[in-house]
Amino acid sequence: MKSVTLPAGEAVPALGLGTWKMGASARSRAQEIAAVRLALDLGYRLIDTAEMYGEGGAEEVIGEAVAGRRDRVFLVSKVYPHNASRKGTLAACESSLKRLRTDRIDLYLLHWRGTVPLAETVDAFEQLKRAGKIRYWGVSNFDLDDMNELWAVEGGAHCAANQVYYSASRRGIEFDLLPWQRERGVPTMAYCPIDEGALAGSAPLAAIGKAHGATAAQIALAWVMSQPGVIAIPKAVKPEHLRQNFAAAIIELSADELARIDRHFPPPRQRTPLAMV
Ligand SMILES: NC(=O)c1ccc[n+]([C@@H]2O[C@H](COP(=O)([O-])OP(=O)(O)OC[C@H]3O[C@@H](n4cnc5c(N)ncnc54)[C@H](OP(=O)(O)O)[C@@H]3O)[C@@H](O)[C@H]2O)c1
Repeated sequence: MKSVTLPAGEAVPALGLGTWKMGASARSRAQEIAAVRLALDLGYRLIDTAEMYGEGGAEEVIGEAVAGRRDRVFLVSKVYPHNASRKGTLAACESSLKRLRTDRIDLYLLHWRGTVPLAETVDAFEQLKRAGKIRYWGVSNFDLDDMNELWAVEGGAHCAANQVYYSASRRGIEFDLLPWQRERGVPTMAYCPIDEGALAGSAPLAAIGKAHGATAAQIALAWVMSQPGVIAIPKAVKPEHLRQNFAAAIIELSADELARIDRHFPPPRQRTPLAMV
């Protein structure tokens, strides 16, 4: 498995499992727990979630699925911006830890920017780190201006990752944000790496997949993982999707294939606002 190195020097897998839309209904809970268990069996070692997903339901699904195997997984969760005050962050983290049935979150992110001053959230994150409740902290949906503001805050440069929308069809961050993060060794976590499933229907990606015996979705993921310093976190519940996505981690795209992808999905020529869902 390819890996990406965090600023502190720890390597994490370049492929993880997303969990948005899990934990939202009791009817699908058993299927979702089975999906996360299968992911672990297949070798997934990074799971992304948030207190927002299913209003805690996704964290509960993960807590149940990971029980007994916690030490094998790098767990990422996120605090809501409206909870990201000094006290609110500490309380939100405690609730997430309970739902995840663990004593620590590996990477804890501010889900997006809200109205709480960044200095307060950073202060709370640093406090959680000292207490051993989180191992690293980072941000999500931060554009270049936000990152610069964060870097100006005391302790702000301890940020270990920025999670943003990044896929073959949403390449805006390549113009400025991605190079900025690379210069500082801050990994990018690519959410919606298959455009919420839409890239599975891409004819150009399917055509490239033929030579690899791979689907369009797998090529979309292989493309994201071919970008240095980028971690892809596709979400899947269907066993076939979980298998395919894990197998995509070993697909190497040639220079010619990458150039074909550039022709269909050109890199940005100018500053582009961050894509969001
Ligand atoms: N920080 C943020 O603001 C933010 C925002 C959005 C997402 N995220 C994170 O990023 C993760 C990924 O993003 P996402 O879930 O929005 O979109 P995504 O991973 O691009 O797409 C997920 C969808 O694609 C389907 N799929 C998965 N693998 C497939 C395959 N091999 N072939 C065809 N279809 C496939 C899934 O179906 P099945 O589930 O039915 O298998 C699901 O419907 C989220 O789950 C979440 O953890 C973060």
